[in-house]
Amino acid sequence: MDKITNVSTIPVGVVGLGLMGCSISTCLVIAGHPVIAVAPLAIDLHHAEKRIQGHLIHSKEHGLITQPPDFYFKQLNITEDYRMLKDCQVIIECTIENMEIKKSVYDNIESVINQEAILASNTSAIPISLLQKQTLHPRRFFGLHWAEPSHTTRFLEIICGELSDPVKADFLYELSHHWGKEPTLVRKDIRGFIANRLMYAMYREAFFLVENGYANIEDVDRACRNNTGYWMTLVGVFRWMDLTGVPAYHTVLKDLFPTLNNSKEVPELIDKIVREGGKGVANAKGFYQYTPEEAKLWEETFTEFSYEIRQLALKYPADVVEKKLALKKESK
Ligand SMILES: NC(=O)c1ccc[n+]([C@@H]2O[C@H](COP(=O)([O-])OP(=O)(O)OC[C@H]3O[C@@H](n4cnc5c(N)ncnc54)[C@H](O)[C@@H]3O)[C@@H](O)[C@H]2O)c1
Repeated sequence: MDKITNVSTIPVGVVGLGLMGCSISTCLVIAGHPVIAVAPLAIDLHHAEKRIQGHLIHSKEHGLITQPPDFYFKQLNITEDYRMLKDCQVIIECTIENMEIKKSVYDNIESVINQEAILASNTSAIPISLLQKQTLHPRRFFGLHWAEPSHTTRFLEIICGELSDPVKADFLYELSHHWGKEPTLVRKDIRGFIANRLMYAMYREAFFLVENGYANIEDVDRACRNNTGYWMTLVGVFRWMDLTGVPAYHTVLKDLFPTLNNSKEVPELIDKIVREGGKGVANAKGFYQYTPEEAKLWEETFTEFSYEIRQLALKYPADVVEKKLALKKESK
């Protein structure tokens, strides 16, 4: 595929305007794309406009954008009509985690887009190799796994299925830098991709510790926030081992690995919450109990935090040390 010269001319489509579809659309209009945002269910139309405008207003307040929110909003076309996608070169599907529903959405999309256009899914858990077999042109199909809120986070996984075209993967990799991402290219499909495999290994251990009485929920959360939470915006696990001394990890691995939880069952602690209808902050019932006011304040606090942590993250990009070296050379 051609090298990207003028990113803002590439029309992009987003299908599914729930939580993630709205923040992904926001990210894309901020990056300068004309965006066709398709609502597969009419219900999306009621909230999508308000939600995206809210994201743009917050983005202005926190200095993510320089122009007034309306400048970016004008780049967006919210519609129920799939035919509007016909000129889009990248289309990102963000519908619920259900294979049949995703397949019916792909049928609608593929009936209107051109053969070279890239089709991607924001699925968190369905293998890309399975999803791509539901499409007419599996070579142009990828996973594009974002993190909420997509317009402030720099996380993005680009996942190749067994049949994906590596040239198109490179194109997405380059394009995503224009979206303000530090992408991870997942070259071989694996369930959970990279970030969720790491995270769920930690969740499993967290459940084990609480269910077996080693610590309560608050204490596990506190350890997590104040240990990993302290350095993970700067470095990943491998650089962290380099920073703090590799041999010590080698010693600990030998004795600790055999004691870590290896269960394949869904823990009772989460099963019970879900059986009883708990959703977390969304309905004030989760691992913690919330008054409606507390639940709302947690949501607001998370929004505020996501803009602030972004500011810190921007000061420490992956190539922070290379940049410092270049500055040093310049000043010599
Ligand atoms: N929420 C997250 O933090 C997160 C993170 C990464 C990936 N994802 C993935 O992104 C995708 C969307 O998640 P979300 O959190 O935005 O969900 P959501 O529930 O907020 O939105 C779901 C979307 O699916 C559409 N939908 C529902 N039923 C449909 C049907 N019968 N036909 C067509 N469309 C239908 C809705 O209209 C809505 O646009 C999922 O695959 C999810 O796994 C979510």
